[in-house]
Amino acid sequence: MIKRLWPYLRPYKKWFALGVACSAAEAVFELLIPLVMARIVDVGIRSGDSAYTIRMGAIMVAMALISLTLGIAASYFASYTGMAFGAKVRAAEYEHIQDFAFSNIERFSTASLITRLTSDINAMQMTVMMGMRLLVRAPVMLVSALVLALMISTRLSQTFLVAIPLLIVVVGIIIVRVGPMFKLLQEKTDSLNLSVQENLTAIRVVKSFVREDHEKEKFAVRNEDLKRASETAFGRVVVNMPLMMLIIYGAIIAIMWNGGHMVAAGELEIGLLTTFFTYVTQILMSLIMVSMIFMMLTRSVACARRIIEVLDETPDITDEKAVSVTDEGTGESVAAAVADGRVDFDHVSFKYDANSPEWTLRDIDLHIESGQTVGILGGTGSGKSTLVSLIPRLYEASEGTVSVGGRPVEEYTTEHLRDSCAMVLQKNTLFSGTIRENLLWGKEDASQEEIEHACRAACVDEFIGRMPQGYDTDLGQGGVNVSGGQKQRLCIARAILKQPKVLILDDSTSAVDMATDAKIRAAFAAELKDTTKIIIAQRVASVRDADQIVVLDEGRISAVGDHETLLRESEIYRDVYTSQQEGGSANG
Ligand SMILES: Nc1ncnc2c1ncn2[C@@H]1O[C@H](COP(=O)(O)OP(=O)(O)O)[C@@H](O)[C@H]1O
Ligand SMILES: [Mg+2]
Repeated sequence: MIKRLWPYLRPYKKWFALGVACSAAEAVFELLIPLVMARIVDVGIRSGDSAYTIRMGAIMVAMALISLTLGIAASYFASYTGMAFGAKVRAAEYEHIQDFAFSNIERFSTASLITRLTSDINAMQMTVMMGMRLLVRAPVMLVSALVLALMISTRLSQTFLVAIPLLIVVVGIIIVRVGPMFKLLQEKTDSLNLSVQENLTAIRVVKSFVREDHEKEKFAVRNEDLKRASETAFGRVVVNMPLMMLIIYGAIIAIMWNGGHMVAAGELEIGLLTTFFTYVTQILMSLIMVSMIFMMLTRSVACARRIIEVLDETPDITDEKAVSVTDEGTGESVAAAVADGRVDFDHVSFKYDANSPEWTLRDIDLHIESGQTVGILGGTGSGKSTLVSLIPRLYEASEGTVSVGGRPVEEYTTEHLRDSCAMVLQKNTLFSGTIRENLLWGKEDASQEEIEHACRAACVDEFIGRMPQGYDTDLGQGGVNVSGGQKQRLCIARAILKQPKVLILDDSTSAVDMATDAKIRAAFAAELKDTTKIIIAQRVASVRDADQIVVLDEGRISAVGDHETLLRESEIYRDVYTSQQEGGSANG
């Protein structure tokens, strides 16, 4: 694990070393101070030599100041290293997540990824910061104090023979019992985050269904869960503190008893006895510190594992199989580009979870010429969205091949492929920013003409004139300032700006009225002649003019053909058509 995370700490190893050195030096100075103190009591005060006392006092103050400065420096270096390390890991993790396919993200869940990016990293950061200081200080203090104590009196030091093993046992018990709880703690945090995230991203739905109480309750339960998990974990840690104190005070009393007798018998100087006490406290305190470090380490190990899980996850979709071709103009080798809008499904089957017995798509064989318009109809859950998501390779076919422009999709880099296949998702999002900024996602350097052209094709120009600042109207987070139908049209315009070879609309005009829907289709036919248009729709009217209409039923193609053919040959199509005709005439 250390090996896996070391690369992120390595750039700061100089700071790390400085921090460690300062901590060690600080500890040594702190230990020397009691020795000077003993000299003052045993030599200076006893002989009444005030000049000596003052001189030694001054040395003590100087040492204390040095030790303080070293301590501040050590804290500074430790904080710097910890924070820089955390930032580095966070950046690496975030960058890696950007390469994840949908399937990778679904495996972790978004909420868990957020915890892994924030709270897990914070815990690790804290450990590096505190660990660097305590982990150095505690052993240095322990060993040197032990040596110094032995030098003062071997007889008094015998008390440690009992106290130290006792403390080690107590610390061991805590670590074994509390360690596993920290993993649970992070999992509870995941679950709480999931609830918060779901609630906040869907706050409008929650409010419109008046589900606030239900949401509050759900949150309360998870919050309580988390509280209970932390209570048990930290509760056990806290209970052990008094136990350790008991051992320490026991040791001090034993030493006082023995030491008092020794001083009375003239075997020990009184100043050395006081010094000895300082060491006793330091030795036992450093043991407690070590126990705290271990506690922190167990928690960080749980967190570090979760972070490494993310870092080690292999993206399901990579550019490994991308092929290069020789550019005819320059003779250089370049990544293959999508030649045209031809789309072929050759006996494609697909399931979301390799272990599931059910296929989401089964044996799809479909061939679309470049520039064709294809309609896809089918009940909810019949696999329409899944089918089209295979084209820009959002998911990979489990069996068979999906090809675009005559080449299997995995032979393109995802960047090339997705640039040529614009997809307007069923649940599409706009981002905070102005309308123009959102449209420019489609093409960064689009000119005003291009923007206006795309907006005309998507019938956005209809309402853009009515927006307060036209193209520069701010949309608010997630595009809350426009209606559903307007949002859909903006998403279509954004896709058109990409000038894609293949344009996929997944039920993208569901919130647009029939007349505008027809206008958009007419604009497509006129303005996007060479683009293959794949349109998923609920209304037969949206697809009846298409070159091919595909009827999907439970993941299989039930029928393919144009409107007339399907009316003759497909019962499902006929049923949908007649029901919508009736519905249509009933509504006028
Ligand atoms: N990300 C996903 N993970 C697992 N199953 C999914 C996922 N998305 C969709 N499904 C399942 O796949 C089936 C087809 O879904 P979908 O393609 O969205 O249907 P449609 O778009 O025709 O309504 C449904 O049974 C749905 O539950
Ligand atoms: Mg769908």
